Amino acid sequence: MSILITGGAGYIGSHTCVELLNAGYDIIVLDNFSNSSPESLNRVKELTDRDFKVYEVDLLDREKVELVFEENHIDAVIHFAGLKAVGESVSIPIYYYQNNITGTLVLLDIMKKYHVKNIVFSSSATVYGTHAKVPLVEDEILGATNPYGSTKLMIEQILKDVFIADSSWSIALLRYFNPIGAHVSGKIGEDPKGIPNNLMPYVTQVAAGKLDRLSVFGSDYPTHDGTGVRDYIHVMDLAIGHIKALEKVMNGTGVEAYNLGTGVGYSVLDLINAFEQATNIKIPYHITDRRPGDIATCYASPMKAKKELGWEAKKDINDMCRDAWNWQSNNPNGYKKEEIITI
Ligand code: NAD
Ligand code: UD1
Repeated sequence: MSILITGGAGYIGSHTCVELLNAGYDIIVLDNFSNSSPESLNRVKELTDRDFKVYEVDLLDREKVELVFEENHIDAVIHFAGLKAVGESVSIPIYYYQNNITGTLVLLDIMKKYHVKNIVFSSSATVYGTHAKVPLVEDEILGATNPYGSTKLMIEQILKDVFIADSSWSIALLRYFNPIGAHVSGKIGEDPKGIPNNLMPYVTQVAAGKLDRLSVFGSDYPTHDGTGVRDYIHVMDLAIGHIKALEKVMNGTGVEAYNLGTGVGYSVLDLINAFEQATNIKIPYHITDRRPGDIATCYASPMKAKKELGWEAKKDINDMCRDAWNWQSNNPNGYKKEEIITI
């Protein structure tokens, strides 16, 4: 079976490519490398000893996307491609809507034309409204507080409407909680551009001595230690979740949302402790103001995915910290080659 992976060179995409290839799927990757490096895909090939086609194509480039469908037999699409930085989406909303929404519309229109009606979409826990109750269940109230979140919510709605119009589509909306960690080999991992926005890559860069200390955003939340609580999930568990969703999508029709989380919440201080224990490296930190837009607590009910997909997360916080550090310490500059100083 042949699967088109949009955004396959990115963090979650590259880990999912490894799982798909190891499970015997054929893959075709489409990515414009706006937030990734082709090197991640070379590493995927090395890790799996499998080859696959890689198209450097922007989803907004309709003609080139169509060429990918023309040249390949495609059974299903896993659609990771999108921009994901919340703060940036507030500053440049048009760019975010254009890239994420228009890109998805181009993809769906071409899928329809080529009768490819199976899709797994990367949604996010960010689609739950700020007043939704934890543990979050899939039919909780939805809402968005920033343009990035709005794009996820809108794409979910578009996909629901696509199914209403044509019930031969089969669609999984995967709502990821907080993906962290890396492949156990340390060959692929998260490679943020510039100073990281998210907690774990910030922690690993402090551990590596690239950043001085972590700012803990707020200690007055109504949580067990006052810091924000999140449902961190190992990226390899998430990758397996995509295989399970794909199996479901290939065996029926419909549109369903699934939480991919562990169901367990850890605070920022819990995560720092777990990282220190897993790596024996002290993480200097200081408490600062809350980050605007952050909520106190967010964790999943993963029961629907367990019941309907037969999936549950297996890896614990220690695995997540160990593997995140293994990736960072083996690749201090991410996928970039060592910086050479010329004098
Ligand atoms: P990522 O940035 O590492 O990967 C996204 C990939 O899409 C990148 O390789 C990028 O170059 C590519 N891309 C972006 N726009 C494109 C376009 N117009 N055409 C072709 N390629 C394009 O991000 P990730 O962390 O791997 O996330 C994958 C998906 O999961 C995204 O849609 C993201 O919004 C979603 N998601 C991520 C998280 C997270 O914490 N990482 C959480 C929830 C949801
Ligand atoms: C963020 C995004 C969310 C997105 C998710 C995964 C925001 C407001 N939300 O979620 O939309 O789906 O990433 O990409 O950006 N923290 C610190 N110090 C730091 C970084 C984070 O204390 O330097 C805290 C945060 O306040 C939060 C926790 O760590 O309590 C996790 O933060 P982060 O990794 O950014 O993820 P989310 O805020 O859950």
